[in-house]
Amino acid sequence: MNDMTEQDLAAAGTAPQTQELAQALAASQAEVEALRAELDETNRGVLALYAELDAQADNLRQATELKSRFLAYMSHEFRTPIGAIQSIARILQDRIDGPLTEEQEKQVRFIQTTSAEFADMVNDLLDLAKVEAGRIEVSPAWFEMVDVFSALRGMFKPVITNPDVVLIFEEPQNVPKLVSDDRKLAQILRNFISNALKFTQHGEIRVSAKRISETSVQFAVADTGIGIAPEFHHAIFRDYSQIDSPIQKRLRGTGLGLSLSKRLAELLGGDVALESEAQKGSTFYVTIPISVTAATPPVATESPSS
Ligand SMILES: Nc1ncnc2c1ncn2[C@@H]1O[C@H](COP(=O)(O)OP(=O)(O)OP(=O)(O)O)[C@@H](O)[C@H]1O
Ligand SMILES: [Mg+2]
Repeated sequence: MNDMTEQDLAAAGTAPQTQELAQALAASQAEVEALRAELDETNRGVLALYAELDAQADNLRQATELKSRFLAYMSHEFRTPIGAIQSIARILQDRIDGPLTEEQEKQVRFIQTTSAEFADMVNDLLDLAKVEAGRIEVSPAWFEMVDVFSALRGMFKPVITNPDVVLIFEEPQNVPKLVSDDRKLAQILRNFISNALKFTQHGEIRVSAKRISETSVQFAVADTGIGIAPEFHHAIFRDYSQIDSPIQKRLRGTGLGLSLSKRLAELLGGDVALESEAQKGSTFYVTIPISVTAATPPVATESPSS
């Protein structure tokens, strides 16, 4: 035993080690192979998933387009019969075909307000479809804010039936003549005011305008109504979003007014915002540039100067 050289000892020890090593190597190679096969399989799966996602995105795009087109056609087609109902109601109201009893007059007035609401809803839908299709155009022109306020005052006067609520239009503060689309701005404010009237049972709705920077003006519609809890502040600017509350259930509406308002404000180069606390009231803001041509690229705009 003592005669064994160091080499002998080494040889005696290496043989089984090499074997073990070779076995381990073979095992790990098989493992690598298995992993590679698994990876290939996963890759194929990922590719298939990508293809499926692409197909789904395509479907979604087509569905969105179809939805926009459907909305546009439907709302457009609705306008003719609504117009007919409104004209006939006017003929009855003007007693062209003879006198009306007191009850009949009330009924005709009901037809008129309901058809006006319906017309508003259809117009909102049509506008939304147009915005989605990128087909709504901004027509900038000079205008004075006081004129917009007085038009809105005239529009809402007959609508306010609750004696516990007053609608106040403040004198615009430091607001210069604007170059924007007054009809779209009025539409945004109309949506804010009609919401404020819907969700306020007592108190006041205050409409104001002030210049907040060199280049922008801010309009606010503040109410003393039911308010909106913070968790809903973002969601209500989305399509068809309405808050689940008892008062909401009594009121009609589609949940399109605010999302349309946001899109219109963006078209004018501005944005909308909200400050509100549940039970205390809400203030909706729309901020737009004093001159739409200066602040927005002339993509969707019909710029008079550039
Ligand atoms: N001033 C407000 N006070 C309290 N809640 C409001 C107010 N304005 C909007 N909301 C809430 O936000 C929701 C969305 O408003 P939006 O104007 O988009 O829809 P709508 O008024 O329900 O329907 P539409 O305007 O399409 O007729 C409302 O249903 C309501 O729940
Ligand atoms: Mg509304």
